[in-house]
Parts: sequence; C-alpha cells; structure tokens
Amino acid sequence: MKKTAITIFAALFATAIMAQDIDLPSPRRTGGMPLMEALARRRSSREFDGRALPRQTLSDLLWAAWGYNRPDKRTAPSSRDKQEIELYVAMQDGLYLYDAEDNRLLMVSDEDLRAMTGTQPFVAKAPLNIIYVCRKQMITDKTPDELIAATYANTGFIAQNVYLFCASESLATVVRAMVDREKLAEAMRLPDHSMVTLVQSVGYPAAE
Ligand SMILES: Cc1cc2nc3c(=O)[nH]c(=O)nc-3n(C[C@H](O)[C@H](O)[C@H](O)COP(=O)(O)O)c2cc1C
Repeated sequence: MKKTAITIFAALFATAIMAQDIDLPSPRRTGGMPLMEALARRRSSREFDGRALPRQTLSDLLWAAWGYNRPDKRTAPSSRDKQEIELYVAMQDGLYLYDAEDNRLLMVSDEDLRAMTGTQPFVAKAPLNIIYVCRKQMITDKTPDELIAATYANTGFIAQNVYLFCASESLATVVRAMVDREKLAEAMRLPDHSMVTLVQSVGYPAAE
C-alpha cells in the first residue's frame, strides 16, 4: 500500500517535471507599425542580445507567423491549404512545438538546442530560434521536387511574417538555410517523415 503511494507520488512528480508546456497569453491582433513603415524597416540582423522575449511578445510573434486568423486558416498561405509546416522554437530552457490552436508551447525537450540550429556562432546566443518543419506525409499529391518547391515557398511566407513582425517590434531577425538539417532533426528526434526547411533567429538587437 505504502509502496503504491510512493509509486503514484513518483509518477506525479515525474509528470510535473516533464510537463513544462507554456500557456501563452492571447495574441494581440491589433496595432503594430503601419505596414509600409514595417516594409521600409525589414532587414536581416545577426547581432542579438541574449535576453529572453516576454511571453506576450512570443505569443504575438508566433500568431503573426503562423497563427489562425480564421477558424481553420492561417496568417500565411500554403499550397492547396495543406498547412504542413510546424513551428518549433528552440530557447534556453528547451525545445517547444507551437500549438496554434490552443495557443500553447508544447515542451519537446528540456535541452538547449539553439547551437544546433545553425552553423553561425550567433545562433547559440539568439534567445529564440524558430525551426520550420515540413510534415511531408501531409503532401501526397506532388512529386518529391514539387513537394520541396511548395514547402519552401510555404515556409518563406511564414518567415516573411516574422520579418515584418520583428520590424514592427524593433526586434532583430534573420532567416537561415545554413543549418545541418539532418543533425538538427536527429537532435530534435523528428520522425522520418518530417524535414527541416529553414530556421530563423529572433531576439532583441545587440546594443551598439
Ligand atoms: C532562403 C534564405 C536563406 C538564408 N540563409 C541565411 C543564412 O543561413 N545565414 C544568414 O546569415 N543569412 C541568411 N539569409 C539572409 C540573407 O543573407 C539576407 O536576406 C540577404 O543578405 C538580404 O539582406 P536583408 O534580408 O537585410 O534584405 C537567408 C535568406 C533567405 C531568403
């Protein structure tokens, strides 16, 4: 009896330790910089301050990137509305999967995988690295070449949303192809049918 109680306690304790999902505050869907000004400011930056982004900014950023702006459709288009891209975020305290429907970050790993998200030194310092992952099994109507073309185009729209949000919020960002995709997929323990397309660093700009 005593042993059972200890086992249950241990299981609950382990669950509490593992389940560090993050409930994000509701995204603010209004405001921001006028579009033409954001376009005028959009740029790639590679110098980051290490400070973590507040939860509200994280929520707004992810919604702008790939949230739902209609009951079943998103802020970025996707070929034949397959919505096959998933956003993972690598932060100091772990790797998370963005659950746009419930506005949560689901913890995938408590490891800091930021340094694995690219071959350039700044990636380990950027507080947030978004990893764009294509769920290839959701695209069944294309040849392999067509799949690559479509999924990279789909990723590009999301990445541009991130660029515009960052311009509007005076954040630094750069989208990146220089990443060892296979090593990163292995570190993330992605299933075989998932493929990293691009990666994007986001953070406060380093003080000049
Ligand atoms: C598909 C793609 C891949 C890129 N890969 C990298 C990269 O791995 N590392 C990097 O520092 N910049 C990368 N960039 C950013 C480009 O270097 C940058 O957009 C370009 O120099 C133009 O600068 P701008 O974004 O400030 O206009 C990439 C951009 C795109 C669109």
